Amino acid sequence: MSATIDAKPMIKTAPPPLAKADPCVLVIFGATGDLTRRKLIPALFDLACEGCMPPAFRVLGIGRSAMSDDQFRSSMDEALKAAKGKDLNEEQWKAFAKSLYFFEGDPNDPSMYPRLAKKLEEMNGHGASPNNLFYFSVPPSVAPAIVAGLGKAGLAGNEKGWSRIIVEKPFGRDLTSARQLNHEIATVFDEHQVYRIDHYLGKETVQNILVMRFGNSLFEPVWNRNYVDFVEITAAETLGVESRAGFYEETGALRDMVANHLLQLLTLTAMEPPVAFDADSVREEKVKLLRSIRPLINAKDVATHTVRGQYSAGAINGKAVPGYREEKGVAKESRTETYAAVEFHIENWRWSGVPFYVRAGKRLAKPLTEIRVHLKQTPHSLFSRTRTERIEPNIITIRIQPNEGTGINFAAKRPGTEMHTTTVHMNFSYEEAFATKSPQAYATLLLDAMRGDATLFTRGDEVEAEWRLITPIEEAWAQLALPQSFFYAAGGNGPASAETLTSNTGHHWRDLLAPMPTSMVQR
Ligand code: BG6
Repeated sequence: MSATIDAKPMIKTAPPPLAKADPCVLVIFGATGDLTRRKLIPALFDLACEGCMPPAFRVLGIGRSAMSDDQFRSSMDEALKAAKGKDLNEEQWKAFAKSLYFFEGDPNDPSMYPRLAKKLEEMNGHGASPNNLFYFSVPPSVAPAIVAGLGKAGLAGNEKGWSRIIVEKPFGRDLTSARQLNHEIATVFDEHQVYRIDHYLGKETVQNILVMRFGNSLFEPVWNRNYVDFVEITAAETLGVESRAGFYEETGALRDMVANHLLQLLTLTAMEPPVAFDADSVREEKVKLLRSIRPLINAKDVATHTVRGQYSAGAINGKAVPGYREEKGVAKESRTETYAAVEFHIENWRWSGVPFYVRAGKRLAKPLTEIRVHLKQTPHSLFSRTRTERIEPNIITIRIQPNEGTGINFAAKRPGTEMHTTTVHMNFSYEEAFATKSPQAYATLLLDAMRGDATLFTRGDEVEAEWRLITPIEEAWAQLALPQSFFYAAGGNGPASAETLTSNTGHHWRDLLAPMPTSMVQR
């Protein structure tokens, strides 16, 4: 039995206006790809509509096939219409589209870079900013060629303006390749010019983890091993591999989600307070935390503390969907995991003995990304009249998406003359409290990179600390036979063995098939 209390909207004033970007030319390598169409151009357009983009801002898309500026603009027009539907303001779009340009070139061809330098100079002569922001929306294997090409063409810095690079995830594919990439970048760029992107850090609710923890005196006193029993972090998707089989077959859920997004969520949940809210201080604490996580060192350790799985045919929202091995572009015998769960332990004073369970999966029962901090049972059960009326331990839920917000489960007296208790949910919803839409993660991060604020980007040693945890798992998985419960039917909770991972220690994941309390249902 449980009840729900909704926190009433409290914020009546309009949100502060967004900051203005420094003028620059955003050069996108991989401009005809999915990310540019689905995320980057819509985010830049949103920023332009908010009045954040200065007149000297331009986008220069780079792609291998020949295309005129107008053809590039109409291809982005299609992409934007697909992303925004009828919400697209045609007038504003026409004005913004004039700042888009196209440049034909192959990033692997060294002769392209002197031409690119010339093009940027020409654009600068026609009113574009001399500042250059290079976006690597390309597979990690292409990044070294771009870094070297930019360096040789003198594009890593010029007297007239600044030069920065944004490198998309995955940053390498293991510890060795990430180190190598960091090394190659460092021969051309200073660390302060490098923005390694993890779009989860741009999400409003992810940034709010730090505000919640360090902007209130309510949570921090219980945020440690004395009060916390365990923490579960879930990133569940109903989507399958979609049109990305080529990428996903090589990547899998562990590299795609756990190595970056989920480790970032864990880090923000568990790190110590930074001395200041700036790039160096925040990232310093994050690296310390990542280094305190115990790596799984051998195959036995990996077999007991991780679970992997792959979706087979099933149904999502009543609609039949094929299994992963039946998807276009996927090998018939593919061993790629579409689900990964890991039990992490942080070896420091604050968290010793508290398991952090993380799981990410495709084709699960519902789309849900959240962090649940389970507090310990009260030491003494004062109100239990019967053995069955047990007070549930408190749970603090940080909902990353959907229905962004925070919830707290706690015990309350049920109305009546007898003393009976129940669990109630107190809910803060971003949408209800602020009555305004949060900026898209990519809009926040692009704006930060244009303004030179790297707080929400991953530092070189930070990605290496992430791979240090992930690479031994990948290596052990490559050697171990596929587990018995590898396949899970689409539309459920993932592999059955994931439950054993937590129940071994008396814990349980949230059941993705169970209905959410009313206030947590997406409206
Ligand atoms: C991306 C992964 O980084 O994140 C995708 O490559 C995944 O596989 C996506 O679907 C999830 O992002 P979001 O913002 O939809 O939670």
